[in-house]
Amino acid sequence: MPTPGTMTMYLALATIAILLLLWAACLVLLLLITWGIIFYKVPFVPTPGAVVSEALKLLPLSSGDVLYDIGSGNGRMVFAFANACPSARVIGVEASPFPFLLTLLRRWGGATRNASFIFKDFSNVSLAGASHVYTYLLPSVMARLLPRFEKELAPGTRVLSCDFPFKSRTPLQTAKVNVGKFTYTLYVYEF
Ligand SMILES: C[S@@+](CC[C@H](N)C(=O)[O-])C[C@H]1O[C@@H](n2cnc3c(N)ncnc32)[C@H](O)[C@@H]1O
Repeated sequence: MPTPGTMTMYLALATIAILLLLWAACLVLLLLITWGIIFYKVPFVPTPGAVVSEALKLLPLSSGDVLYDIGSGNGRMVFAFANACPSARVIGVEASPFPFLLTLLRRWGGATRNASFIFKDFSNVSLAGASHVYTYLLPSVMARLLPRFEKELAPGTRVLSCDFPFKSRTPLQTAKVNVGKFTYTLYVYEF
């Protein structure tokens, strides 16, 4: 029969163990959320709803088109493009676990047959088969992507970038969208 002193000690140990587990879980969650910033220097920020509608107008898809959202976050743009044109194929590429998990939960909630996802660094995914590409990244990443796009994308491929233009290229079209205090600019390019 354990004495009251022993019971108190067990209780204290159990409390410490639970607190340590909670602390470790918080650390893991924080790592998963900040993964994109730590490893890819790009935070997970979904394109705002009003910008999504404008993007769908600027980049209309038709049957047989293949659109890649490179750095697809929680899949918001992929589902929007896929629902807008069910006969096109839309592929999201995301390397950060937390937004990718959100994508899977979203897909579970309602299947979109023409949407698919790849959990990978987009530097290692070929874009040769793309007819359209969507990006919402950062200026430094856009600068690195330009020579790759020029080499890899098939002639005529349309690229839509949210907020971050290619400094040395003239866009075919631009559009501004006001969301609260912020103004987002969309840039359409043809390669
Ligand atoms: C600003 S968010 C945009 C999310 C989504 N495209 C949207 O518009 O809602 C950028 C995403 O790109 C991802 N990302 C950045 N670099 C990446 C890389 N090299 N490979 C795959 N994903 C990347 C980040 O993890 C982040 O989720």
